[in-house]
Amino acid sequence: MMSTIKHLNHVAILVEDLEMALSFWRDALGLEVSHIEYIPEQQAIVAFLPTGNAILELVKPTNEDSGSARYLKKRGPGIHHLCFEVEDLEAHLKKLEREGIRLVNAEPVMGAGGTKIAFIHPESTHGVLIELRQTPRSSP
Ligand code: CO
Repeated sequence: MMSTIKHLNHVAILVEDLEMALSFWRDALGLEVSHIEYIPEQQAIVAFLPTGNAILELVKPTNEDSGSARYLKKRGPGIHHLCFEVEDLEAHLKKLEREGIRLVNAEPVMGAGGTKIAFIHPESTHGVLIELRQTPRSSP
């Protein structure tokens, strides 16, 4: 059976300075911050701003050698990736591979909170880095 996309889970935005970014996203625009935490898997401090079905993540890299830090240095702040929640990540990756889509992760890797994630290369997506994510059934 084909795995389906459930919904847009989050949009990740790279920032150089979290407080400066929050002065726009929280204070001027009016989104609420649910929490801010260090995410070891991402080597970043992340502010989570729920917007209904999807979450805005403001990502401040903490390690200069991480992928997101290098991306930030090269391209400046802005949207880094979109993440879709899927039903069956393995099935999705197999299908994409059959379609000749270039994957950053051909196999799922562990994400924060016991999720399984994988990235699709922007070369195959018309310029957008895409994360696919499968949440274990027990989690909300
Ligand atoms: Co993400």
